Amino acid sequence: MNYSINCVMSREMKKLCVILVILAMPSVALAWPWSQDMMNQPSIKPQEGVMTPFPSRSVPVMGIPTKVANRDEAKTLVNPIMATAESIKKGRTLFRIYCSACHGLAGKADSPISPKIGAIDLTDDYVQKSLTEGWLWGTISFGSYVMPAYGVPNEQGGSNDLTVEERWHVVNFVKTGMLVEAKEADEAAAAAATVKSIDWPVK
Ligand code: HEC
Repeated sequence: MNYSINCVMSREMKKLCVILVILAMPSVALAWPWSQDMMNQPSIKPQEGVMTPFPSRSVPVMGIPTKVANRDEAKTLVNPIMATAESIKKGRTLFRIYCSACHGLAGKADSPISPKIGAIDLTDDYVQKSLTEGWLWGTISFGSYVMPAYGVPNEQGGSNDLTVEERWHVVNFVKTGMLVEAKEADEAAAAAATVKSIDWPVK
């Protein structure tokens, strides 16, 4: 049977057959050149081209605008968000997510990573008394020497994970909530230790 076909087909016919068989294979048949992805249209895709500037004189309708370029410029910024219980609570949640891995859950540089990376104790006088709230906000925004940025990514990497307000909430937690909570935790630990050390009279 094969023999007879071979006899009948010319070289050209055979070639044509091979090409047709290849074109009929599913992977080929479903792709080039007849498969057009709907995504590939003459439109501007995300992250493509130059961002259109905002119309002139437009103003932000939400958030707190900031024009600070680096940590030094942030040093004298005045915290625009009151350290209310609500703000401290938000700050604590964000601190646990973004800062605690390096600085410890209560900021005492007692996480397993703290000594390895050199993260400092945030309950120390250095942070609590010497550093301004603006500097703290600047540190969170632009990062420090080793510490990554959380507001404005830079050549070291970092992210813009925290909004301007969120960074102030974290500042409120570090500067207002942290010491109070550290004291409460110490007292609770001391109370627990006293209970343990009582010599119960044994009769
Ligand atoms: C990847 C680990 C890491 C994370 C996460 C991290 N830090 Fe740090 N942080 C450090 C290290 C290391 C230092 C000390 C060296 C330096 O300044 O970079 C530091 C220093 C600081 C300082 C002192 C800056 C100064 O001027 O001396 C503050 C304040 C601080 N961190 C706050 C925070 C807060 C708030 C967060 C969460 C938004 C955070 N850090 C997240 C590693 C980290």
